Amino acid sequence: MKLSLENLTKNFGEHRVLDDVSLALEKVHSLVLIGPSGGGKSTLLRIIAGLEIADSGSFAINEERVAFDEKSLREHRRHIGVVFQAFNVFPHLSALANITLPLEKVHGFTPDAACETALDSLRRFRLEKHAHKKPAELSGGQKQRVAIARAVAIKPRLLLFDEPTSALDPEMTAEVLDVIEELKREGRDFILVTHEMGFARVVADYVAFLTDGKIVEGGEPAEIFESAKTAECREFLRRVLKY
Ligand SMILES: Nc1ncnc2c1ncn2[C@@H]1O[C@H](COP(=O)(O)OP(=O)(O)OP(=O)(O)O)[C@@H](O)[C@H]1O
Ligand SMILES: [Mg+2]
Repeated sequence: MKLSLENLTKNFGEHRVLDDVSLALEKVHSLVLIGPSGGGKSTLLRIIAGLEIADSGSFAINEERVAFDEKSLREHRRHIGVVFQAFNVFPHLSALANITLPLEKVHGFTPDAACETALDSLRRFRLEKHAHKKPAELSGGQKQRVAIARAVAIKPRLLLFDEPTSALDPEMTAEVLDVIEELKREGRDFILVTHEMGFARVVADYVAFLTDGKIVEGGEPAEIFESAKTAECREFLRRVLKY
């Protein structure tokens, strides 16, 4: 993807959560956002997802600028697959129905076509055995894989992951990271917010460090993890990599 963030600013009341964030990436498949809690990572991701509106600034994906009016945002959201930290699957629907619902309601698939696409996606993520289970009958890792299968089924131009493993134990974390790693190998475009620094390092084409609403530093993983230029980024990495 080509990604261009231009002077994005977002306030919640008096609080400036994003402060003139700009980033221009010519051609990356995977952007990983790291940084301390409250730094603005989720807010930035939600703006890129079209779920939140910036107070000023703009952004473009593959040279297409996204306007902040409801009609344009609705159209934009159709092409973005989002996976959040807490399992945002519908609890009353089976894994299969979680995937067919948006295909039918948002993307205009017929019930048969939605079912076929959803089953393909479940197979793709080794979940076919679980198609008819409700989220309560699935492990955390399986639920997150259903959320990923749903995000991928819509054939998004961009996938967004906001700490997809932070609610999981280590084994399930690995299971979900394996899936994201596969998507990376397939050459899919995604933006990932994560506290898993080891994973960030292997999966990122570009790492941006966001703190206090600003992208303070960005670069290839080796640059950031081995020779960060700013004291803020070095200090953050020292803290999170201590143990
Ligand atoms: N809807 C909202 N209303 C008011 N303040 C908000 C809202 N959403 C986020 N904030 C505030 O904006 C700041 C940035 O939040 P954000 O969730 O973007 O941070 P983050 O980098 O994702 O943090 P974490 O790593 O803890 O998830 C925080 O101070 C948060 O309290
Ligand atoms: Mg967050």
